[in-house]
Parts: sequence; C-alpha cells; structure tokens
Amino acid sequence: MVAKYYAKISGTGRYLPDKILNNHDLEKIVDTSDEWIKQRTGMWERHIASEDQASSDLAYNAAIKAIKAANLRTKDIDMIVVATISPDHPFPSTACILMKKLGLKNIPAFDLSAGCTGWIYAMDMARQYIENGIAKNVLTIGVEIVSKITNWKDRNTCVLFGDGAGAAIVSRAETKDISRIIDSEITADGTYYEYLIQPAGGSRNPASTNTIKENKHTVEMQGNKIFKLAIKSMYNACETVLKRNDLDVKSIHWLITHQANLRIIEALGKKLKIDSNKVIVNIEKYANTSSATIPIALDEAIRARKIRSGDLVLMASFGAGLTSGSILIRV
Ligand code: UT7
Repeated sequence: MVAKYYAKISGTGRYLPDKILNNHDLEKIVDTSDEWIKQRTGMWERHIASEDQASSDLAYNAAIKAIKAANLRTKDIDMIVVATISPDHPFPSTACILMKKLGLKNIPAFDLSAGCTGWIYAMDMARQYIENGIAKNVLTIGVEIVSKITNWKDRNTCVLFGDGAGAAIVSRAETKDISRIIDSEITADGTYYEYLIQPAGGSRNPASTNTIKENKHTVEMQGNKIFKLAIKSMYNACETVLKRNDLDVKSIHWLITHQANLRIIEALGKKLKIDSNKVIVNIEKYANTSSATIPIALDEAIRARKIRSGDLVLMASFGAGLTSGSILIRV
C-alpha cells in the first residue's frame, strides 16, 4: 500500500512510581546478592508501584506528559493503543479506563498483548492508522506493573522486573517535517510460547484455590532458553529494517533495545557492529519494565537532549509470545 501520509512521533512522556527497590532490598526477600544481579543482568534498582496504583494510573501520568510535549490538547487524540501484560483487569481494556481518566469518548481504544514487544507493536499499528489517513494523533503506551504478577519467592524472576509507563504520540507529519517513522517490522513465533508465561487466570487454567496456592498467577520464565533467542530475534528485526531502507548501521545515531539484560543489549550491539556509545542503556535504574522499557528510554534520552531533532533512532524488542520487532524513526 502506498502511504497517503507520513507518521512521526510528536511527543513522548514517562512515569515511574516513587518507590525504589534496590538489589540489597531484594537480598532480604530471596536468596540472591547485589553482585549476582549486577553481574548477570546489569540491574541496580527498579521502581515499584504502590498498592493503590494500577496500570491505567501509571499510563495516565505518562500520557499527560506526552500530550503536553506534542503541544496537543487531550481532545486531539483520536485513538489509544495500550500495550501491557499487566492490565488493570483482564477486561475491560486498560485503554478504555485510561480514556475515561483523560476525559475522552467515541474514539477507538484497546489493549494489545505482545509481551515486552508490545509498544513496538502499538507503534506499528499507530503508524498504519496515520499513514492511511484514518487517525491524526494516536496515543501509544507501554505500561506495566509486573510487581503485582511476580512470584516474590522465585529468585529466577523476581529480581528482574520493575514498574513504569512510557508514552508516545504518533501524529500525521507535515510535508516540511523531517521527523517521521521510516519503517517498522513486527513478527512472532508461537513455538516457544511456554518459555514466558503467566500460566493461570485465563480460560486454560481459570483462577482456583490451587492456582493461587501454586503461585500460577505470576510470571514464569525459562530465562536462559530465551537469552539466545532474544539476541537473534532483535538482530533479525534490526537487519530487516536496515536492509529494507538501504541503510548501513553506521548511519544510525542511537540504538534503543528492550532492557531485559545488559548482556543481551551488549551482545546485540556487538552483533550489529554499532558503536557502543550509540547504545542507550538505563537498565540499572529501572530493570525490565516489559513493554515500557523502550518508550521510557526514548523519552528519557529526548528530554536529556541526548537524542536530538534529525537523529536516526533504531529500536528493537523481544518478549512473550515469542514476539519481536523493530522500528526506525527520524526524530
Ligand atoms: O523481557 C522478556 C525477555 N526476557 C529476557 O530476555 C530474559 C533473558 N534471560 C536472562 O536475562 C537470563 O537468562 C537471566 C538473567 C534470567 C538468568 O541469567 P543466567 O545467566 O541465564 O542464569 P541461569 O538461569 O542460567 O542460572 C545460573 C545460576 C543458577 O544456579 P546453579 O543452578 O548454577 O547453581 C541459578 O539458580 O544462577 C542462579 N540464579 C540466581 N542466583 C542468585 C538465578 N537467579 C538468581 C538470583 N540470585 N536472582
């Protein structure tokens, strides 16, 4: 399909809950050590939502900042896509709850579940709606409160995640704009869906006394099986958009990958042969916030004026499904 319009990111925002849990705090909860967590993951601390916060609350705070940064009024938003694996409720969607908080009505609003790749999926969808002229300003959010679906007795997973929200507005670009979404790529392979899963609470294993007793409503992950797949899939997703746009990796100003493990980020950077100074990392502060890692990192780098107007930014992610994807933008 030939695009009628170009899409661009017109504003970004992020929100991290106030409470910080560092590696030493985790030493008091499970048999782990600050040294193991830092060496094996690169994580130092993570933010944790309060008891009364749900994902839509975090999303709202990030959304307000993104709308302001885009110089828009809330009523200019004509579609909402929320990527999350930790919604307020199994249904209705967090997007509809967020819509009420924002005072919006009569526009499409829905959640999508693509694990940690969720925000890249949301951006890919937003881009299509802008390019074909159906929407003008799409609010995309990656938001998670993984801490509330974490097994705090399982050291294999509980040290890895954090809570947070990142938002981006995808708007129709004017002809004079240099800023635009150049390309995006999303894919999935369900072969290994069991490697990363919340086993109970759905129609396969509905909630029961047993599912609660056995902690089946929390994240289960076969981390070391996923490790290699993560590098391979993000590499493929990056290579696809680079090749399709006839770009050498040298022309990329910044690479933002999913923040799941510093060793994965470094290995991917090396495989792509990108200068390590161009790789944006914030895993030490926020750990793995699933679908929120990339929009949080993007917003942080834009507000710190590290990423500047005209820069080419390549973003890639990988997650439950198993899903993967990438997006290339000029800021
Ligand atoms: O965001 C979605 C996608 N997720 C990912 O991409 C995650 C990918 N995987 C990873 O990042 C890594 O596999 C982990 C960080 C999850 C684990 O690191 P690893 O180097 O693969 O460790 P491992 O699972 O192979 O475990 C090595 C050892 C084990 O002990 P033994 O059996 O060798 O005695 C674990 O029991 O480390 C032990 N271990 C821990 N020790 C201290 C596992 N977790 C911990 C811990 N503290 N928290």
